[in-house]
Amino acid sequence: MATISASAPFPTVSSDLTQTPNPLPFQRGGGGQFQIPFSNNQNQHFTGQNPGLLPQIFGQALYNQSKFSGLQMSEDIEAWFMDDVNDDPQRPHQRNPDEFVSPDYLADLGVLHWKLNPDKYEEDEELEKIRANRGYNYMDLLDLCPEKVENYEQKLKNFYTEHIHADEEIRYCLEGSGYFDIRDKDDRWIRIWIKAGDLIILPAGIYHRFTLDTSNYIKLMRLFVGEPVWTAFNRPQEEHPARRSYMGNFGQKVGMPLKAH
Ligand SMILES: [Fe+2]
Repeated sequence: MATISASAPFPTVSSDLTQTPNPLPFQRGGGGQFQIPFSNNQNQHFTGQNPGLLPQIFGQALYNQSKFSGLQMSEDIEAWFMDDVNDDPQRPHQRNPDEFVSPDYLADLGVLHWKLNPDKYEEDEELEKIRANRGYNYMDLLDLCPEKVENYEQKLKNFYTEHIHADEEIRYCLEGSGYFDIRDKDDRWIRIWIKAGDLIILPAGIYHRFTLDTSNYIKLMRLFVGEPVWTAFNRPQEEHPARRSYMGNFGQKVGMPLKAH
């Protein structure tokens, strides 16, 4: 069950990353629009109806996403190939010696990243541009820590189960930190360390998982096009349309074997 904090400037939900949330903390307008309580009135209504603003949908991903809509992505992100040690997933799990992964390598796998100022997320023009360009008309905030989430340990286990989604997973870290792990073309785990200011977009159909780091706290903004669907499809999902589309758009580009298993 989600809980809502009335004291937060935005409605804040302590909830599961992959479950359909309780009734949204936003007023619903007509025609599938949501009124979003951003203080900047210019962009309170994103209809998601303008085809030029829609993000990639099945089979329509853009290869050169760094040029997407002229929005300059950040190259300031820490990612590395994980070791094979099977212990506490909240440890960094860097290899010895370290093997870091470049932003270009992440981009080739379809991962987008921006570095924003989390202190001004309520009136951040850059965030507004990204939302407008990609049609992200839904948002909410999540607090994840043992004190605020029921069955925290079990939920962390669920987040850490390898899965895909039918849609992008878009997360903006406002406080704290955590790890998104994604599979590369050779089925190796890449760990992406998300910290305050990191906005990351994982493409639909990419195998991934999430966990917090040893700080055990993260505050995330979730973004979505239209009504959110958080359903996770655990691996294997080779026949799922989103997986097939991902393999067609990105897997072929980087030489991913068509059947990972
Ligand atoms: Fe996910």
